[in-house]
Amino acid sequence: MKKIKIFVMVLVVASIFLGLVACKNDKKDTGTKDPKVLVMGTNAAFPPFEYMEGGQVVGLDAEMMALIAKELGMELKIVDMDFDSLPTALANGQIDIIAAGLTVRPDREETMDFTDTYYTAAQTVIVLKDSGYEGIVDLSDKLIGVQTGTTGSFCAEEFVNDLSQIKTFQNGMLAVEALKNGQVDAVVIDNNPAKEYAEINSNLDLIEGEFADEMYAMAVAKGNKVLLDRVNEAFAKIRGNGEFDKIIDKYVK
Ligand code: ARG
Repeated sequence: MKKIKIFVMVLVVASIFLGLVACKNDKKDTGTKDPKVLVMGTNAAFPPFEYMEGGQVVGLDAEMMALIAKELGMELKIVDMDFDSLPTALANGQIDIIAAGLTVRPDREETMDFTDTYYTAAQTVIVLKDSGYEGIVDLSDKLIGVQTGTTGSFCAEEFVNDLSQIKTFQNGMLAVEALKNGQVDAVVIDNNPAKEYAEINSNLDLIEGEFADEMYAMAVAKGNKVLLDRVNEAFAKIRGNGEFDKIIDKYVK
């Protein structure tokens, strides 16, 4: 009798344990909280990669992620937030992946895992036409507008005499508004958004070729190898079958 009791107890404990392992594995299978939904975090004021149109987040990143989600048999959900909130949202599981024209950087690699890269960019300086500024040498004592937490802001930190000359904005559009209003003398931002801003504002000039190339990649939470591998595989597919190139052609001028 005693033996049977012990046997039953062992069975109960074993099945609870197996159950727990199974649940854990379920989650691990997709690397996402909801196995059917891929939650992408972005900051949608960064054309042509992400911007608002008709109340929706659209752009290169949104379309690329929609295709990746489709490959994974998942529904894509996009969450728009401040750019500098993205790493925390990723770390605490509020989002599964960042797709935000995000540049790969060693310091970022400490807190997140980057996918394969998908785009080469470089920082550009936006100035007002007729300002006479020709390069960063002319801007070392000027006020520089940047988006908080971006590589543009790190580049600006390199060439100003004093960090107090750097004015941070919650997005690139606001920095450009400040330039037009005379609150800053230049804006440092990625080349493609810079081109888009200059296209809709005829009084802006771009200074290119001052900074090194950067690579964009998506990012998943540190250690989420399951999702990283799945996304890389899906991305390889849409790159291989030409679908990704079509998106590039559609959005990059
Ligand atoms: N490439 C820059 C960086 O990683 C700027 C990205 C800004 N992206 C955005 N969606 N607002 O720092």
